[in-house]
Amino acid sequence: MKESSDKKTFRPLQKIFTAVPPKYDFLNRLLTLWFDQNWRKKAVEKILDKNPRRVLDLGTGTGDLALRIAKKGGKKVEVHGLDFSKPMLELARMKARKLGLDRIEFQFGDAAAIPFDTGYFDALGIAFAFRNLTYRNPDTQKFLSEILRVLRTGGRFVAVETSQPDNPILRKLFHLQMKYLTYPLGSLLSGEKEAYKYLAESSIRFYKPTEMKEILLKAGFSKVKYTQLTGGVAALWVCTK
Ligand SMILES: C[S@@+](CC[C@H](N)C(=O)[O-])C[C@H]1O[C@@H](n2cnc3c(N)ncnc32)[C@H](O)[C@@H]1O
Repeated sequence: MKESSDKKTFRPLQKIFTAVPPKYDFLNRLLTLWFDQNWRKKAVEKILDKNPRRVLDLGTGTGDLALRIAKKGGKKVEVHGLDFSKPMLELARMKARKLGLDRIEFQFGDAAAIPFDTGYFDALGIAFAFRNLTYRNPDTQKFLSEILRVLRTGGRFVAVETSQPDNPILRKLFHLQMKYLTYPLGSLLSGEKEAYKYLAESSIRFYKPTEMKEILLKAGFSKVKYTQLTGGVAALWVCTK
């Protein structure tokens, strides 16, 4: 395993995610009406489906996906979590200690230079960070090629992310909820206006499932499948390298 340097220039999103942590988990639950945990649970089922030995949770944040993978997968699965927000990682480590899951390796690093060897992972999961990597992000191609690089051939990439409902009425309601509920409530309760403005804006403008499928196929995945969740406000992606 390679070490990742933290001496690089800050990316704009890094500032946002370094500021947000203390109430992050609580706000995730509240703003999704506790659906987020169920969405992660579905992602974990797909991640563990083919009995992977080594799994990376990319953009692990406070570790919710990694913790679930380690708990469900047991000791035979080597679980790593990577993030470029140190406060988020601190919370992840604290939660892991409390749950007796401190075998999970939480590591500081950038998705544009994932500090692992080529083909190291059997599966790579990402929960609610894929939008950050692909929505108007100039480094999208780097992120995608890094994800592919660290996966072994035949390995699985599983993403759970906000999406766009097909139904126009539901889509409008989802956008209104983001604009008039998620943004003001998140800003108020966290004191981090920028973070929740970004969340609402990027979720409203994020790709439709068909567009995202195109991006993933173009990046080089051989198979890309998705399932819409909760009317399509989120989607679960299962891709094969
Ligand atoms: C919306 S949070 C999701 C966190 C967590 N996966 C979850 O399910 O709650 C996005 C996370 O991705 C991380 N992130 C965004 N861009 C990143 C990058 N280029 N490299 C590493 N981490 C990144 C952020 O620091 C943040 O912790």
